[in-house]
Amino acid sequence: MSRDAYALAKDAAAALTAAVGVDSFDVALVMGSGWVPAAEPIGRTVAQVEMSSLPGFAPPAVAGHSGMIRVVETAAGKHALLFLGRTHLYEGRGVEPVVHGVRTALAAGVGTFVLTNAAGGLRPETQKVGDPVLISDHINMTGANPLTGTTFIDLTDVYTPRLRALARELDPSLSEGVYVAFRGPTYETPAEIRMLRTLGGDLIGMSTVLEAIAAREGGAEILGVSLVTNPGAGLVGEPLNHAEVLEVGRATASRMGVLLAKIVDRL
Ligand code: 6GU
Repeated sequence: MSRDAYALAKDAAAALTAAVGVDSFDVALVMGSGWVPAAEPIGRTVAQVEMSSLPGFAPPAVAGHSGMIRVVETAAGKHALLFLGRTHLYEGRGVEPVVHGVRTALAAGVGTFVLTNAAGGLRPETQKVGDPVLISDHINMTGANPLTGTTFIDLTDVYTPRLRALARELDPSLSEGVYVAFRGPTYETPAEIRMLRTLGGDLIGMSTVLEAIAAREGGAEILGVSLVTNPGAGLVGEPLNHAEVLEVGRATASRMGVLLAKIVDRL
């Protein structure tokens, strides 16, 4: 995209560090749907700022419900930048607002990202609702890309193998899967879900892949974690609803928060 997007991220990073009074961060975590309660166990809140008060962040979709950026200090004294809420492609603002948080964190010197999301499970044979799954790779079916022009970036190891190995060492019950992203905002049809299983997908959602590409462009390492909130349409029978997705997040928040805290302290 335009050079301007990077300049805007630099401005946002300057405004962020000034607002929170911290100018060096060990990691940034993007907390997806259902993951916000998992922020509590990660550490002590040092400061927080409303995203929409910083340059380039989209105004709140619902009045008064802007996402927050929180700075947290972990038990081991690390500083984590938490994005509580994200912009999705389906909001219709284009791709730049979707990756602006990642670019802002990159401009603030962040070299490690934890990208979380809520996802539909494409493998109910082996996945349980409420399980976290490490993202091993992705299939970008959004039709969008944050990079344009002649920026050819290798995506062989988008989701850093070392970070996945670390997460599995801390929680050996974790499995891995391929995350497929659709633009949304509709959930998929049963025929689309069958297609995605055939294509090798394990998880389906509407986020993360564009952020991961932007983070890789910036040379950062990435850990991706999906929370399986429901099976994909048609696999088990019941229609999907958003309230259910959020409820599953609440129910597993403390387990996820403890895992994230351990990961951050071992980075
Ligand atoms: Cl089934 N599909 C998509 N696109 N996103 C989801 C989901 C399904 N479940 C949670 N998020």
